[in-house]
Amino acid sequence: AVGSVDASPAHPVQTPAQPVSKEVTILFGSQTGNAQNLATNAGKTLEEKGFQVTVSAMSDFKPNNLKKVKNLLIIVSTHGEGDPPDNALSFHEFLHGRRAPKLEDLRYAVLSLGDSSYEFFCKTGQDFDKRLEELGGTRLTDRVDCDLDFDEPAAEWLEGVLNGLSEAQGGGVAEAQATTAAPQAEASAYSRTNPFKAEVLENINLNGKGSNKETRHLEISLEGSGLTYEPGDSLGIYPENDPSLVEEILSELKWNQDETVTINKKGEVLTLKEALSTYFEITVITKPLIKQVAELSSNKELQELASDDEKIKAYIDGRDLLDLIRDFGPWEIEPQALISVLRKMPSRLYSISSSLTANPDEVHLTIGAVRYEANGRERKGVCSIQAAERLQPGDTIPVYIQNNQNFKLPENPDTPIIMVGPGTGVAPFRSFMQEREEVGAEGKSWMFFGDQHFVTDFLYQTEWQRWVKDGVLTRMDVAFSRDTEEKVYVQHRMQQHSKDLYEWLQEGAVVYICGDEKNMAHDVHNTLLDIIEKEGNMSREQAEEYLANMQQQKRYQRDVY
Ligand code: 2AM
Repeated sequence: AVGSVDASPAHPVQTPAQPVSKEVTILFGSQTGNAQNLATNAGKTLEEKGFQVTVSAMSDFKPNNLKKVKNLLIIVSTHGEGDPPDNALSFHEFLHGRRAPKLEDLRYAVLSLGDSSYEFFCKTGQDFDKRLEELGGTRLTDRVDCDLDFDEPAAEWLEGVLNGLSEAQGGGVAEAQATTAAPQAEASAYSRTNPFKAEVLENINLNGKGSNKETRHLEISLEGSGLTYEPGDSLGIYPENDPSLVEEILSELKWNQDETVTINKKGEVLTLKEALSTYFEITVITKPLIKQVAELSSNKELQELASDDEKIKAYIDGRDLLDLIRDFGPWEIEPQALISVLRKMPSRLYSISSSLTANPDEVHLTIGAVRYEANGRERKGVCSIQAAERLQPGDTIPVYIQNNQNFKLPENPDTPIIMVGPGTGVAPFRSFMQEREEVGAEGKSWMFFGDQHFVTDFLYQTEWQRWVKDGVLTRMDVAFSRDTEEKVYVQHRMQQHSKDLYEWLQEGAVVYICGDEKNMAHDVHNTLLDIIEKEGNMSREQAEEYLANMQQQKRYQRDVY
């Protein structure tokens, strides 16, 4: 029988060397790397418990092998309007399609990552969980939907998985032999949960006078941290809230800023001012937050709002804690009680714009300052405005490196690359060019950059011009959208050179897109399809397959936000 152990070497039929139930496959779908890191760590934990673990991106997993999997762990994030990450797309589609196999022998568990300020919170994980059940699978443990602060719930989920695996094996797991593999030595003591206080070396505005934009170029020291990174990786930053916003909240609630509160389960204590400045999120409100505050307060209007999901959705859009207090407060709530329903300040990820090889011990960022008006008040991006208005050379800021396996230079430096990065989307490509210059890469490269005005918004103009002159960059096409009567965007430049571009694709070029997701990346994607369709004499469907193939081969990579 499948799963029984037969040690006889002369046994004529193929039997697994180990009981199959000790094999665990972990599939992740990850955009920014969090799900991938969780998958890797879960894999290590399970190996230490004696399991044979395979960890793989969903895009690298052959769906035909699914029938052979006995224990499946899915760790997946959700983006935008409930969308799967890029490297989960094809597997998600396969599983929901008609060719999905029956999975009666499968035991599985799903961990989903998301952000409860979005309507379709954790939808992708929920999709997988439901679908695997429909296909006949049995849960090892219940799905856990994690909000931004995912460490604790993820650890609890893994406990549940271990219990589930152990029960399924008749409690044998505890005695299962630990593998001899020593845990890998960590390169640095610093991580997302233990960030490095890095010194700011330089902070300048890249845009010229009169620009509509403010883009900060930050140079940050990693000296003494042991932190390293590769082109394509991101830097995580824990920002601080705007001091004037904190003051307004304290004054609206008539709270004493020096009163202390317990901020977490560990029992750490901060003053209210510190807690609201550094530890909690105050610029975003979520459905769970509204419901919890409504329970704590006696405000009838707030309770009415909290009882209607559609109304909550409309209300939280573009509003923050101060709005909530002004509209429905102040409440007779103990500071400790209100503090306890706030989300922990999430870190912000920025695509790194430098190469470590070219700038030892340094990391550079290219940050667009976010300022806009909503619901009658001026709003400011937490991290970008801290960078634009308050961060000075000599200051320190908590940072960590987030590896991004979905956005990597080709291993072979001879491979041609096409980079599309308007606005702050330019960041990783500056890193790519610095790196390729350092290593003397021979591969062709083609950059598409765009922004509003040539004179004020050509980010890193002199660097690009030098790279073209020195042959590090083979071609550069720029699109300045507001210098001419009619708007020109990067995709129009791509369209103009469609023949050459398709030739590059045929030569094996890797295409990278970085920047705005909703408009730019979507339009550029469609333009790529147009180009492939036209120049390759293909139908739309064939062009889509061509691009999907490129994606599968990691020749189409996106870092979009
Ligand atoms: P716009 O602001 O003049 O519309 C970087 O922000 C550049 O991207 C700007 O020139 C901006 O143009 C442009 N942009 C805006 N929407 C875009 C889209 N859908 N596709 C490509 N570029 C776009």
